[in-house]
Amino acid sequence: MRSPVVVLAVLVALSCVGGTAPAQHELTGELSGPKAPPARAIVVVAGATGRTGRLVIAQLQAGGRYEVRALARDPGKARREIGAGYTWLAADVTRPDTLAGPLRGAAYVICAIGATARSGPNGPEFVDYGGVRNLVDSARRAGVRRFVLVSSIGAGGEGGLTRWILNTIGGDVLVWKARGERYLRASGVPYVIVRPGGLRDGPGGRTGLRLMQGDTGFGRITRADAARIVIATLNQPAAVGRTFEVVEDEALPVDAWRQGFTALQADAL
Ligand SMILES: NC(=O)c1ccc[n+]([C@@H]2O[C@H](COP(=O)([O-])OP(=O)(O)OC[C@H]3O[C@@H](n4cnc5c(N)ncnc54)[C@H](OP(=O)(O)O)[C@@H]3O)[C@@H](O)[C@H]2O)c1
Repeated sequence: MRSPVVVLAVLVALSCVGGTAPAQHELTGELSGPKAPPARAIVVVAGATGRTGRLVIAQLQAGGRYEVRALARDPGKARREIGAGYTWLAADVTRPDTLAGPLRGAAYVICAIGATARSGPNGPEFVDYGGVRNLVDSARRAGVRRFVLVSSIGAGGEGGLTRWILNTIGGDVLVWKARGERYLRASGVPYVIVRPGGLRDGPGGRTGLRLMQGDTGFGRITRADAARIVIATLNQPAAVGRTFEVVEDEALPVDAWRQGFTALQADAL
């Protein structure tokens, strides 16, 4: 049997190895030690199961800069169909009681929701307007730093055949999107409103992108590029308080849009 002196000596020696054990401050008695890595800012993505939203969460997660919370009406289905590697949280934007929990502690909200019916409880009135309003209210209560809304080209326009057609077949979708935009602008929550042109699938990063204001233009953009623009605005102070359209422009260099935010005019409220 070992003597108690030897056991004590071994314990003392063990307590001294490693060099990473917390040290106690002489005066305050506080422990200091190896610092935990700084927490990453939380980005909540509403509409994360959508064709644009799922690219947003994929790009955010690949970038590694943010902690991503992906909202879905059916998280189990989202996990199976889109991926188990995301943090899926249940939320329905037409039900404000489902939003407070997922937004708690969030720094950013990206809203890529869109009505799934042309009328009724999940039509544009209750999703593109009411849903945005519910999310904005929850974001304000949660104290988020920035709310990025994916709206649509045409939401700010007054007339035009394309706008008339989209409103007619889409249950006044652009009218309700415009109301959602106005609610966000007046909310006091720092915001960016991105109005993509006609969305199409396909790879991003293949062509130049033009940022425009005033909603008089027209064009298309891939969902992948729309997602890149939306994510870029999280880190662009020059985009805050701005509403802008974005479409492809083959005459522009592929990444020139990154310098385009500083030219945007602040919204008149
Ligand atoms: N199509 C175009 O050419 C075009 C052009 C410019 C802008 N936009 C706009 O861009 C945005 C993204 O478009 P997209 O084509 O990527 O959208 P999408 O594929 O139709 O996805 C819509 C998303 O909204 C979610 N959603 C619908 N109702 C909801 C509710 N009550 N609560 C929570 N989530 C709800 C859906 O979730 P579930 O999985 O639960 O249904 C889905 O994730 C939309 O606002 C769209 O209007 C579209």
